[in-house]
Amino acid sequence: MRADIDKIISEMTIEEKISLCSGADSWTTKSMVSHAIPSILMTDGPHGLRKQTNMSDIADINSSRPATCFPAACSTACSWDESILYRIGAAIGEEASCENVSLVLGPGLNIKRNPLCGRNFEYFSEDPILAGKMGAAYVQGMEGVGVGACVKHFACNNQERARMSSNSVISDRALREIYLRPFEIAVTAGKPSAVMCSYNKINGVYSSDNENLLTGILRDEWGFGGVVITDWGAMSNRIKAFKAGCDLNMPGGSNYMEKACLRAIRKGTLSETDIDRSVKRILKLVLKYNDIPVMPGPLPDHNDFAAHAAAESAVLLKNEDSILPLKKGCKTVLIGAMAKNMRYQGSGSSHITPSKITNPTDAMPDLPWVQGCLDNGDTNEMLIEEAREAALNADVAIVFAGLPDAYESEGFDRSSMRMPSGHVRMISEIADVNPNTVVILMCGSPVECHFADSVKAILYMGLPGQAGGEAVRKLLFGDTNPSGRLAETWPIHYEDCVSAPYYSKTDDALYLEDIYVGYRYYDKAGIPVRWPFGYGLSYTTFEYSDLVYKDQSVSVTVTNTGNDGGSEVVQLYIALPQEGIHKPVKELKSFKKVYLEKGESCRITFPLNAGDFAIWNNGWHIQSGTYRFLIGGLSESVDITYEDIETPLWQSGSWFESFSGEPDLKTLEFQTGMLYKPAEAKKGSFTVNNSIAEMKDSSFIMKQMYKAVSSYVLKHSNGKADPDDPAYKMMLNMAVSSPLRAMQINAGLKDSLIRGLVLMANGHFFKGLARMLRG
Ligand code: BGC
Repeated sequence: MRADIDKIISEMTIEEKISLCSGADSWTTKSMVSHAIPSILMTDGPHGLRKQTNMSDIADINSSRPATCFPAACSTACSWDESILYRIGAAIGEEASCENVSLVLGPGLNIKRNPLCGRNFEYFSEDPILAGKMGAAYVQGMEGVGVGACVKHFACNNQERARMSSNSVISDRALREIYLRPFEIAVTAGKPSAVMCSYNKINGVYSSDNENLLTGILRDEWGFGGVVITDWGAMSNRIKAFKAGCDLNMPGGSNYMEKACLRAIRKGTLSETDIDRSVKRILKLVLKYNDIPVMPGPLPDHNDFAAHAAAESAVLLKNEDSILPLKKGCKTVLIGAMAKNMRYQGSGSSHITPSKITNPTDAMPDLPWVQGCLDNGDTNEMLIEEAREAALNADVAIVFAGLPDAYESEGFDRSSMRMPSGHVRMISEIADVNPNTVVILMCGSPVECHFADSVKAILYMGLPGQAGGEAVRKLLFGDTNPSGRLAETWPIHYEDCVSAPYYSKTDDALYLEDIYVGYRYYDKAGIPVRWPFGYGLSYTTFEYSDLVYKDQSVSVTVTNTGNDGGSEVVQLYIALPQEGIHKPVKELKSFKKVYLEKGESCRITFPLNAGDFAIWNNGWHIQSGTYRFLIGGLSESVDITYEDIETPLWQSGSWFESFSGEPDLKTLEFQTGMLYKPAEAKKGSFTVNNSIAEMKDSSFIMKQMYKAVSSYVLKHSNGKADPDDPAYKMMLNMAVSSPLRAMQINAGLKDSLIRGLVLMANGHFFKGLARMLRG
């Protein structure tokens, strides 16, 4: 194939080469008949296929062909089971083949930096090892059935506020140890066909233009051989992006900066070799995936597996008096709107039209149901009265609560960690009249659970996908023994999060807390949490014994000591020496999920390598000292003599010694070696990187644009500005806050129009008009 590719490239004109590096439309690459270059189709998304029925309208996100809606990543990560992710990847790949889709845009590997990120439900974990391993397994499954996977969003796209332009200011250490790690694992172990670069800047450089990220780290260090694709509208400077190793600009159709690239080549500021590199990688991808056998016939039926995955991912958070599984013959009532109309997936580009839906009431038709609250999370006296009455007359009340659609979505961050007040009230009123209250939580991220002490059991389903109701049934009645473990910490109050005072409060994302994300912070600062990372109960019990470190491996025996067969997630943490340069108390290094029959034991061995002990300090280094291996309450130490890592000068007296109060910008500036200056959006200095929202108050023309764009979005939402419709909220947010260049790419607006508008917004109306007319 190589020879063919070289031959094709040698026969292409430079114009054709540049053109091939942008898609044809929203979802396909360009075909070039004269060179026998085929086109391939790509679609979202991570939790099932989203092949739009209306391919030409990028904004029509909710109209897609039916496909299996698997549990979202927030759930599947809690399975801690790589084989589940492998099978999900393979199943989505099979459905993709049936739909002639060659590349699936997923999985999402961003770290859950703060519980309020609107898109956390699409991401796996606060921990890089768990996120990376889950992602790698998914990629392997999908690539194994001959469909390409595209891991996203590379990198540091951890807030939805200003997500298309925000600057992630971050130290090298946090970047390497936390935010790049999941990508490193998925790229090296999973070998995805593509990586999607993110919208944001990292330390001032847009991801698409970031040579250190896309070539230095991704290709030279990690050996990535595939294609880098932009997120939709993420291309910043096409010339810099070619040099950086960003290959494919998506969506296509706008010819964005293609003429500028030609001029740069003629001037000698861009070399044709840089373009050839990208063309070669794109050709390799399209020739490989255009060749895959398309599976004929209807979509394979993955519904049962979706139910299995959801049940394996659920986390039993509380089970006082072993109230679950439900005892035979006990009078049970289901309460809450979500029992009949469950929340099973998130909103945005990962939204799927499910092939079937099994709500809890469908799966348990014999159990009575009362509404308790409205779909939007509110409630009223009548609904509460009816629910109390039903609960009073039952042995066990199962209350469904969580976050309705409008509370979390791609495109905006959550405003608080609270559940809707109607849900909170419903739980408390039911718990008041029935001591045997069980809460089933359906939400894509942690919520404040102040009700936890007043109910008997809590089962976290996450966003369990289309067969969620069936999974709930299996768990409640003991057909499946819960075996999920939390993939992120559940704080007691939102204010307990280290980044709470500043997260998503400004457009730029200042990673002041550095590596102290999730449990790394709570452990270090000694802050109590509602439920820790890695936590989850079972209907049986497990005991650990014989923890031994030998020949660079850690082994332990785990025994099922209870009365049921069940799965345990064996988690290996390393506690790091605390002297010298700051370090987390402990870090997850490896894990394995094992099924054990009642009374059965097994021995698990985790091989370790030098990387498991290393921290980033201008390169990976291992500090001499005592390291402890922690598994299931046991611990074993080893003294390692390696090197002394110098403690950074800024550490003394800083937050990194006390872990109390807020981390500060000064320290981050020391760490990055850069003074932080927020981007100024000011008349006179607006560029194509500014948004309509930023320019509207100082420019009449932008005010009109703002109105026009808002009414366009409104028209797409059937004319209803519904605050409960997350798709409307997301689209509006994206449309008005996306940089103008992204509008050019996403909406196909002409370059001359965009440049003219910027001139006008800067107060040069006639110059702007002339620019538009010239175009
Ligand atoms: C999202 C990506 C998605 C793409 C195409 C973007 O807005 O960030 O995750 O794959 O749209 O739908």
